[in-house]
Amino acid sequence: PLLIDTDPGVDDALALLMAFQSDQHQLLGLCIAAGNVGLQHTCANALKLCEVAGINVPVYQGCAQPLVFAAEDAAYVHGLDGFGDIGYKPAQGYLETEHAALAIIREANQHAGKLLLVMLGPLTNLALAVRIDPTLPSKIARLVVMGGAVTGKGNTNISAEFNIGFDPESAVIVFESFPEIELLDWEAVLRHGLKHKDIERWLALEHPVAAFYQKISLKTRQWSEGRRGEYWHSADALAMLVALCPEYVIDKYKHYVYVETQGKHSRGATVVDWADRMGKPAQTEIMHQVKQDQFERLIQNALGWSI
Ligand code: RIB
Repeated sequence: PLLIDTDPGVDDALALLMAFQSDQHQLLGLCIAAGNVGLQHTCANALKLCEVAGINVPVYQGCAQPLVFAAEDAAYVHGLDGFGDIGYKPAQGYLETEHAALAIIREANQHAGKLLLVMLGPLTNLALAVRIDPTLPSKIARLVVMGGAVTGKGNTNISAEFNIGFDPESAVIVFESFPEIELLDWEAVLRHGLKHKDIERWLALEHPVAAFYQKISLKTRQWSEGRRGEYWHSADALAMLVALCPEYVIDKYKHYVYVETQGKHSRGATVVDWADRMGKPAQTEIMHQVKQDQFERLIQNALGWSI
């Protein structure tokens, strides 16, 4: 059983398409967060992607704001609507009435000890779920988080990665509550870039999913090419590879990870106890390297190729 919490977002969409393709996992639903763009857009985008991909799963609306302090979105990367501002026709589908945080609790109890929970956006919904049901961490089989920058090379400020930086207070709750977290940080994402020319070839496939993804990703791929050059980086897709196929992880290490909330220049930073100085049980498995060829294969299959 797989449950995904996401703030779609263009790279979230690629990760979701990868999950939709997996015949090894039973997708229970999508829990929607605010983050990349506002909750109204992230919900509409999730419903639209399910419709385009022909996937019928429950979609649960989560928190519209971070737990404590407001934060800037990432519309400059994903477009004002989070899906490249292509003006798509809204999906026919509808949101569930159950809150995402309550859906996480319910599914964790129904699938106690078996649930794979993948967090692709800010950790607000999960933090709320833990506060409502403190026994939640003991019921999750695997928690995979896209977030953080383990040596301080941030992407939303000097030292913070966007998902953690958007809601550091929620991240503190999650990192202090879960005994085991599989972390895909921004620095690992930078080590697993995708060549723009390869992506463009993959998106040229005569397939409705590839065609839709070509449109919604155009704006962010152009932004990325101007800013980062030859390679495009799809953070959530890399996290989803680890979630779906942990056997493709080549190198990882385990340490205790703190989240900074007070630092003048470091709010939202993931601070790793590399020397295990504090003597706390290492709760985070930091993924360092995955099989790039398998990563690219799963992306192609997500877009409609059969490789
Ligand atoms: O820092 C990358 C993360 O922030 C990804 O989840 C992306 O979707 C954005 O939310």
